[in-house]
Formats: sequence, structure tokens, C-alpha cells
Amino acid sequence: SKLQVKLNNIYQFVDASDVLSLKNKVNDCQKLIEGKTGKGSDFLGWVTLPAEITDDQLKSIEKVANELRSKSEFVVVVGIGGSYLGAKAVIEALGNSFSMLDNGGTKVLFAGNSICEDYHAELLKLLDKHTYSIVVISKSGTTTEPAIAFRLLKQHLEGKVGKTEAASRIVAITDQSKGALRKLADTEGYRTFVIPDDVGGRYSVLTPVGLLPIAIAGFDIRQLVEGARQAMTDTSVGVPFEQNPACQYAAARNVLYAKGKKVEIMVNYTPKLHYITEWWKQLYGESEGKENKGIFPAGVDFTTDLHSMGQYIQEGERFIFETVVSVEKPSHTLNIPNDPENLDQLNFLTGKRLSEVNHMAELGTIVAHNDGGVPCIQISIPELSAFWIGYLLYFFERACAISGYLLDVNPFDQPGVEAYKKNMFALLGKPGFEDEGKALRKRLGI
Ligand code: PA5
Repeated sequence: SKLQVKLNNIYQFVDASDVLSLKNKVNDCQKLIEGKTGKGSDFLGWVTLPAEITDDQLKSIEKVANELRSKSEFVVVVGIGGSYLGAKAVIEALGNSFSMLDNGGTKVLFAGNSICEDYHAELLKLLDKHTYSIVVISKSGTTTEPAIAFRLLKQHLEGKVGKTEAASRIVAITDQSKGALRKLADTEGYRTFVIPDDVGGRYSVLTPVGLLPIAIAGFDIRQLVEGARQAMTDTSVGVPFEQNPACQYAAARNVLYAKGKKVEIMVNYTPKLHYITEWWKQLYGESEGKENKGIFPAGVDFTTDLHSMGQYIQEGERFIFETVVSVEKPSHTLNIPNDPENLDQLNFLTGKRLSEVNHMAELGTIVAHNDGGVPCIQISIPELSAFWIGYLLYFFERACAISGYLLDVNPFDQPGVEAYKKNMFALLGKPGFEDEGKALRKRLGI
């Protein structure tokens, strides 16, 4: 069993030889990645991260996770972007769809991934009635959204259990020495985990940023890392282009992009993968969307969205391609029952598993979308397990770096995310931003 990348359903739109023609370029990108000689090479720590995580590091993450679990009904994970999406994606992919409604076990909640007043007010209200701990994550230590949420939560927890107990229930994950969060953690005596300098936010899921919340949620981080290790081997520079899933995927999407397919829609057939798509959107959008270049990453959940976005994909503007991520084996078995009345006329499905119906929906949709002019890359993993999710995450990271280099951008920076922050601060009257604030208010007529 392995992760497979199938390209048959793009070959009505591009030639296999087009994909193959990128072989040398892709190999050059692979050398830039492993030799650390390409753009943004200070941020390539994620490449060998899975092999470098030690047993001691995993043990210390598990120890803190178990301790927080033992004394908390909820653990609130505060973070945004790369300090949020990896953990959220893995927890949703591996968890029971209804775990929030059962009574047992510590639940992981998220905060600081928006500035929504209602969300945070409702969260504090919930936490009034429950025991909880906080994991606050920020690499820079200065990001506004998590900083606001953490202010609220810190004061709430201190008010509830006192300053000393609160300090023992707060864990900070941040830079080794820089940033406001590091200073705060050192001053207050919080336990901390370090985000390595050479691992950027969106590539940080296999650092404590992802591993601690995932362990708190009760999942096997050792299997997750093991899967990533296997992916690291299978996508390394020594694995030939034809057998290397990351090279195949990176090449195929870039050939499609060159043919005018500027939007890539990630498709899943299980809602459990919804946040994997969100994680992937951040990874690819932030890595490639710069210098007026880059595929726009979008996402849909099928068959749900076949009843909404399906129409556009079938017959709208033809600038899209799909990347379908499928899971070969479900974790449960559920057969469709016979109904003697057969009023819905579905007795021809009697005894079939839901997964078989889902699979036929998938195959039928790929052909329909192909007929409608939409190329389709297919990626499959054997099952939704910690191992295969770890594998999938590393595979996407590797393919993203290759893709970014094929596009000749720096896949590891994000200069564009600063623009909104400057304007927001100016509008809010941050000292030093007075002139910008005045000009903006005039422009906005406020
Ligand atoms: O990928 C990135 O670098 C960003 O999305 C960051 O993860 C996000 O902005 C949060 O940054 P920080 O961890 O510094 O608070």
C-alpha cells in the first residue's frame, strides 16, 4: 500500500510527454531543496525534520500532552495560519466526527484564528463552566489575532484558578529567543516548546506546533512522524521522477498551469479531509502566490458540493483543474439496508457499502468533469490513519517546494501578508502610524 498519484485523467488536456519534459527541471529543483541552495534556503529545516525528531522530543511532547489532558476538559489552542491549520487538519482527519458531543476525553478547541468577537465571547462563556488549559502558538510571537485571544484567555484563566495555577496550565510554542510571546513566557514562567528558526509557519506541522495539539487530542504522533519519514524517503532526490509522487504531482500541476488552468480545486469525498484542504490551501497559496504568479488553490467537499459548486465545475469558465484526494479504505462498514416498500427505488443498492456508492460517485464525477473540460489529478492514500496523514502532509510540502521553484519564486516567504496589517494598525491608531491612518480614513470616507 502506498500514496499514488494518477495522471491518466489529465492526458486529454496535456500530453504525457509535456509532463515528462519537466523531468530535468524538477530534478534541478530537488537538488536545490536538498542542497539548500535555492531561494529562501534558510527555511528548509522541514525537509529533514521527520528524520531528525528524536525519541526524547516526542517523549517530552507526550508528557506535557498527558499532563494537560489529565487536568483539563478542554485545551484551547491559540494560533493562526501555520500555527493553527496543521493541528486542526490532522485532528479533524483522524477524529470521530461527533467526538465533541461525547463526554469522555479532553477536547481541543481553537482560538485566535479570527478576531470574531462573538466566537471569543462564546468560548469564554463555555470555559466559565469547565476546566481548561491553554497552548499558545506564535512563531513570530507578535501576531495580532492570537495575541488578542491570548490576552482574553490568560486573564480569564488567571481569574478562574489564580496566577500560579494558570501559569502551570499555559504552554507557549514560539521562537527560541525572539518575540513578545517568548518574553511573556519567560516572565510568567510558562513551559515552552521551540519552533526551529529554519521552519516557516506553514511547514511547521511536524514540529511541536502541530505535534503537541495532536497529542493532546489523543492521536499517535509517533505514527504521524513515521509516515512523514517514509514520505521523506519516497520523495527524495534519489527517487527517479517516474516513481517519485511529489515530482509527478508538482510537474503535472505546473504543466496544467502553463496551459491556462490557473485554479486548482482540491476535491475530497469525506468531510474529514475538509481541513486538510484548508491546510493545503495555505501551504500552496502562501508559497506560490507572489510576483503576480501562482495557481489559485481552492477546495470543495464532494459529494456535498456537487450540489452547489458542481454546476460551475461542470460548465463554468474553463480555467480550472481538480486534484482529487481519495482514501481507499474506510474505517467502518455500513451497508445500505433493503426496504420492502422501495418507495425511493433504491433497492438496487441493497447490501452495497456506502463507500462503494461514494467511489462510483467519484469515478462518475471524474469522467463527467473530464467531459466538461476539467483535467483531474488523482491522489490516493490507503486509509485515514496517523501514518498516512503524516505521509500526505510531507508529500504536499515536498511537492509545494518543487512547484515553487519550478515557478521561480521563493516558496518560503510571504511578503504580501504584511499589507493588511499595516492598514489595520493605522486605522486603529497605533502610535507611529498617524499619517497613514489619516490618509486611509480619507480614502475610505470614514
Ligand atoms: O505560514 C506562515 O508563515 C504564516 O501563515 C504564519 O504561520 C501565521 O501568520 C502565524 O504566524 P505566527 O506563528 O508568527 O503567529
